[in-house]
Amino acid sequence: MAIVTDPLTSLSEDHQRILGILEEVRRGIAALSSGKASAEALATLRQSAQTLARELDLHSMKKEEEGLFPALTEAIGPAGPISVMLADHREVENHLPKLLEELNKEKPDAALARSHADVIIGLLPAHIQKEDFILYPTARERLSRPQMDRVVAKFRELDKE
Ligand SMILES: [Fe+2]
Ligand SMILES: [Fe+2]
Repeated sequence: MAIVTDPLTSLSEDHQRILGILEEVRRGIAALSSGKASAEALATLRQSAQTLARELDLHSMKKEEEGLFPALTEAIGPAGPISVMLADHREVENHLPKLLEELNKEKPDAALARSHADVIIGLLPAHIQKEDFILYPTARERLSRPQMDRVVAKFRELDKE
């Protein structure tokens, strides 16, 4: 595991990985909706969705919400961009378990799985853009060295878990 020295760069690298997995989910859902998904394709889709959930848990719920956001809230306050990002996280947190639950059924309901996947697929790329181009640059500008050091320490602790 790479040692975190610049937490914001490491978060942006997570984003690229997450977008790649999201694309796998999008393709899997499209196949499922077409009614032509093989058992193997369904197994791959299940795995991709699980990987997405695992990545987002560490990235969004832990590194951002327990590491970056508290430090940034001290610097810029809780309103504005942070509250918008948190609302996006809650939306994903609402739909992703429902998607997993549906996909884990022996015969998933394609329309239902798609309705949950579509929310996530519609939301995450824009969310990531806002973080990469607005929130993280703000953090780079506004966090003091000690605040940034605290974020680094938190990330290292989370990477060890
Ligand atoms: Fe986020
Ligand atoms: Fe993020």
